[in-house]
Amino acid sequence: MSSTIIEDIRARRVFDSRGSEAIEVEVFTVGGYGRAIAPMGASRGRGEAMPYPPGGVSEAVAAVERLVTPELVGLDAADQRLVDKVLHEVDGTKDFSRIGGNTAYAISMATAAAASSSLGISLFRHLGGSLVQELPYPLGNVVGGGKHVRGRGPDVQEMLVLPVGATDVLEALQANFLVHRRAGELLARADPGFTGGRGDEGAWAPKLGTEEALEVLAKACEDVAGELGFEVRMGLDVAASTLWREEENAYVYEREGMKRDRGEQVDFILELVERFKLIYVEDPLAEEDFEGFAELTRKARRLGCLICGDDLFVTSVERIARGAELGAATAIIIKPNQVGTLSDTADAVRAAREAGMVPVASHRSGESTDPHLAHLAVGLRCPIIKTGVLGGERVAKLNELLRIAEELGEVAKMAKLPVA
Ligand code: PGA
Ligand code: ZN
Repeated sequence: MSSTIIEDIRARRVFDSRGSEAIEVEVFTVGGYGRAIAPMGASRGRGEAMPYPPGGVSEAVAAVERLVTPELVGLDAADQRLVDKVLHEVDGTKDFSRIGGNTAYAISMATAAAASSSLGISLFRHLGGSLVQELPYPLGNVVGGGKHVRGRGPDVQEMLVLPVGATDVLEALQANFLVHRRAGELLARADPGFTGGRGDEGAWAPKLGTEEALEVLAKACEDVAGELGFEVRMGLDVAASTLWREEENAYVYEREGMKRDRGEQVDFILELVERFKLIYVEDPLAEEDFEGFAELTRKARRLGCLICGDDLFVTSVERIARGAELGAATAIIIKPNQVGTLSDTADAVRAAREAGMVPVASHRSGESTDPHLAHLAVGLRCPIIKTGVLGGERVAKLNELLRIAEELGEVAKMAKLPVA
């Protein structure tokens, strides 16, 4: 019997980096084994798969035992498309609300991990094939706000850095760690109340407004760029759906005491892009505003800034098609648990690439120490990986990139960034 045939599947309740319940799935094959824990978002898009059934993780665990395992045992773990199709059939809903999108993700990823282990090859090679050689640039969250710090920091959720001038992964990681450290020192000077507190993704959580925090981050990037001798650029995840108030027809910046309508929001973002030479802005507008995204994308293009959709696209092929038609974005966040399976994720990456969007493989705010995201990013050839900078669950993915780079050896090269 082939070594990749599935013999058993087990699921259990574990905890994520926020201390919330999460599902872990183990897949046992004739000749191998794989395990995966599903991550969980705090600022989830409305179009995402339902993470868990109404009864939460325990209902999901029961569903794996009762509904999924009997259907998957005997199948070939290397036949990812078939396994993922069976997951859709067993669930029977459009948004995985019966078994949970997180449940589907954990099974799908654990299956891929089991297949690669049975075949005796690394997960990134199993996902991407023998010709894979490009490594992604790490997009790191250095200063956080919004929902990730329960409204106690800047209104904008994430201030990010991208070490565009790095020539290998080690240099890129060093740059992000140094910027994080330097930003911490500078924040202690800029905010007298700063005690070194960090949000869900390990980013500093100062009591500063967005622009003040960006000024500090710009200085940190400049210092580190001077020290290392290459450029480190900044970006934002506005997570604008969390600022949007339908009844006021405005984005409400509570810390700043500001309200901005759509036009003002577009102008504000463009001002920030110009002033801080931003290379990347994620979810600058609310998740249903495809037209607003398209307007901003047109205007940001000449400034060399990527406009990225996360809640806008939720890794969904249908929403990508809509965005492609309108020219709504130049980048897309790829979060496998937003759609549930690796097949759906690969389809989203392909659709995005065909539409000229840069795929950004991304963690969630609630994470585990699983390293799989690094393999997904390399295997699916995403030029950027968004994983945060600090915290064991973030560093687990970053260290995995170093291992992958080592395995690739002399053929390894950094991905080509579309703007720099
Ligand atoms: P999450 O958000 O809390 O939904 O994981 C992270 C993000 O918006 O990129
Ligand atoms: Zn986001």
